Amino acid sequence: MTDLTDLTVSTDTQGRAAPAGPVAFPQDRTCPYHPPAGYDPLRAGRPLSRVTLYDGREVWLVSSHAVARALLTDPRLSSDRTRPGFPVSTPRFATDPERRRVALLGLDDPEHKRQRRMLIPPFTVRHASELRPWIQRTVDDLLDAMIEQGPPAELVSAFALPVPSTVICGLLGVPYADHEFFEEQSRRLLRGPTAADTENARVRLEEYLGGLVDEKARRAEPGDGVLDDLVRRHREEGGPDREEMISLALILLVAGHETTANMISLGTYTLLRHPDRLAELRADPALLSSAVEELMRMLSIADGLQRVATEDMEVAGVTIRAGEGVLFSTSVINRDASVYDAPDSLDFHRPARHHVAFGFGIHQCLGQNLARAELEIALGTLLRRLPGLRLAASAEKIPFKPGDTIQGMLELPVTW
Ligand code: HEM
Repeated sequence: MTDLTDLTVSTDTQGRAAPAGPVAFPQDRTCPYHPPAGYDPLRAGRPLSRVTLYDGREVWLVSSHAVARALLTDPRLSSDRTRPGFPVSTPRFATDPERRRVALLGLDDPEHKRQRRMLIPPFTVRHASELRPWIQRTVDDLLDAMIEQGPPAELVSAFALPVPSTVICGLLGVPYADHEFFEEQSRRLLRGPTAADTENARVRLEEYLGGLVDEKARRAEPGDGVLDDLVRRHREEGGPDREEMISLALILLVAGHETTANMISLGTYTLLRHPDRLAELRADPALLSSAVEELMRMLSIADGLQRVATEDMEVAGVTIRAGEGVLFSTSVINRDASVYDAPDSLDFHRPARHHVAFGFGIHQCLGQNLARAELEIALGTLLRRLPGLRLAASAEKIPFKPGDTIQGMLELPVTW
């Protein structure tokens, strides 16, 4: 682990990094593929700053790549959302802390490790490559249908959302026929107008997944999805109970489709806004995997990882007190100029892979190998099959998601 006290910076008289007046966090992006202009003070070279949440509370925000990687592997920071002081970044998650229990993402080791171990096999690099032919067929079928009906098309609903949604359903053993229901509930969970709406969406998803798990448990022989495997383990001693199976199913289903869908839609938009890079990628498809990595870095769609300190810690010349919230802005960290040259430009030749867009440390994205396979196949096939792909509306008018949720396009009208 990096010695955090070595990462010193200039501090004010209280020993805190001198803030340029606390910046509000999160903020809406002005351009969907750049951090909000309002985050500029956070990029001014200070590794930690104070930021203000929607309710006026001040917490720490990490913007240095080195400090982020050190802190994301530091067991003194907790992911437990029920702990007092855990930074809630939007009023929609400001429910009773007990209701904020989340599998995997919201647990610390050793509980977290126990859950994660159960889920490693389906998410390995090897399994993701075995799934590639099936992902390719899924992508081709969806493009066949889109091409048959267009041009034009609305790419989010015709392609960006159904690709990961179909894939995660197949992997988990969730019927794709139910996709409209769970996509809508996931949307409300991540972007509902109020805390009550978010809570209701969570309850509805839990009821749905509970029914699915019960139905699988009634079968003499479970199927071969990840949820069927959980049911198999549930029958063994020490296996997950019903509640745990449901909470794991929920995070896998929601994280498994919303995130990748946003990367496909925003990734496509970003490529179409960078015609030189797009031409370069079309001319040399071998650049695809580094292009995906660079898009992950540049877009940093999960922008605002949350932790709370469990004890006082000296970090980069400041003191984080026990109970204080610590946020990680991945969009700012992934543009740390001490790590990336010309960080605001899209460059498929830079070594981008050590970005933190999938997180870092024990919670680093479980689905990253699957997501990479989906992104390479979806973006590569889209560009190959539609050489004339272009936006079907003025770029500035196309709506994208607000800053307090996973970033992506709300709609993406295209033609070819
Ligand atoms: C491009 C798409 C994706 C992005 C940008 C993304 C991003 C992230 C990030 C940043 C984290 C860490 C959060 C933290 O440390 O607080 C994470 C964790 C996680 N992701 Fe992803 N993710 C993506 C795709 C997926 C997919 C396809 C799945 C499939 C199920 C998935 C499942 C998970 C799970 C279960 C965790 C929690 C892991 C743990 O706590 O051990 N993600 N993801």
